[in-house]
Amino acid sequence: MPFPEGSSFRSSSLPDPFSREALQPAADYILVKAKAGGHAPTLGIICGSGLGELAAMLERPVALPYADIPGFPVSTAPGHQGKLIIGRLSGMTVILMQGRLHAYEGHPLWKCTMPVRVMRMVGANTLVVTNAVGSINPQYQVGDIMLVCDHINMFGLAGNSPLRGPNDESFGPRFFALNGLYDSKLRQLARQAAEQVGIEETMREGVLTISGGPNYESVAELKMFAGLGVDCVGMSSIPESLVAHHCGMKVLAFSLVTNQCHLDPVLHSSAAPNHQEVLDAADAKKGDLKKFVSKFVENLHNEQQRDLLANGNGINSNGTPSCNGTTNNGTTSNGTTSNGTTSNGTASNGATSNGVQPSNGHTSNGVPSQTSNGTSTSNGTSNCKGSINNGSLLNNGAVAS
Ligand code: HPA
Repeated sequence: MPFPEGSSFRSSSLPDPFSREALQPAADYILVKAKAGGHAPTLGIICGSGLGELAAMLERPVALPYADIPGFPVSTAPGHQGKLIIGRLSGMTVILMQGRLHAYEGHPLWKCTMPVRVMRMVGANTLVVTNAVGSINPQYQVGDIMLVCDHINMFGLAGNSPLRGPNDESFGPRFFALNGLYDSKLRQLARQAAEQVGIEETMREGVLTISGGPNYESVAELKMFAGLGVDCVGMSSIPESLVAHHCGMKVLAFSLVTNQCHLDPVLHSSAAPNHQEVLDAADAKKGDLKKFVSKFVENLHNEQQRDLLANGNGINSNGTPSCNGTTNNGTTSNGTTSNGTTSNGTASNGATSNGVQPSNGHTSNGVPSQTSNGTSTSNGTSNCKGSINNGSLLNNGAVAS
């Protein structure tokens, strides 16, 4: 029996639509188009609400409407265009989603995130995930960019994960740790890029949560998030980041603050967020974001070149895979050869069942990075800076609406 259209959860008794085998036609289609354009992508980018303009930066673009890619869902959210674009940016070949899929559109989470697996299959070993968010942290301003250093996954805690259902071990193990999901080296390269393009004053680092949408949050929900130490709330990014981490990709997630979330009921109702405000805030910031992303990609490219030169074979001296997709067992996944030279081929760069090993590299005995000290989202071991003191928000005298 084929997988029933519209089913939310994948069942072990049906063919798994999230398996490598099921996704192979999409990967093959993209690889043929990429190769025809002379491209072998190694970096994936997902553009959030209003951030699709980033696509305009790609050189020699090859645009593939989702509707033409076998098995791809179609994005319906306003501000999301629904195209995969492959092209060159700052020395790298990028595969970019112009328009993402959200749970509120009616897609199950595995469908929202299947493009991430497909990106991995066509050779991307690093993923930049972007979204628009409301800020709960009162220190943040509209237009700020928050590097995500950790998350509270409301979907996952409620038992809904894109990875719920059969596990395809060729992507990653059944159980996996989230330590290092939001890669600290990539965040460092992003902070450096922010400084280089002069937007460091607007750069934050904090904790993201996800709400199902499509409604924005109630005062009571926002207060709950504040109490939990959340800095920003959005309607995406966490599921994609999880799937990317599971299949061994390094992840940089950043959020553009498009509105303030008011915990005061009076302000909450007088300044209700709306989608136009979100799009306008993204529009106002698009110039800076383009500069920031292209500088980040340049930094990443330089870093990878340095790694290759330093290590010869693309494997870091600490034994963890470097960003070129070389896994610990020395197999390659994106055309990087074992002597450190990069192949320019596109056909064999990930379309094969490449034995991808998760680069999360974490054993289940990893030391947890957070304590529940009740005052901060960070106990100093994680890199989250500027996290809110929950107490001040909870005790702001506002009563629930
Ligand atoms: N809440 C949830 N998602 C969002 C918001 C918000 O306030 N702003 C932009 N995306």
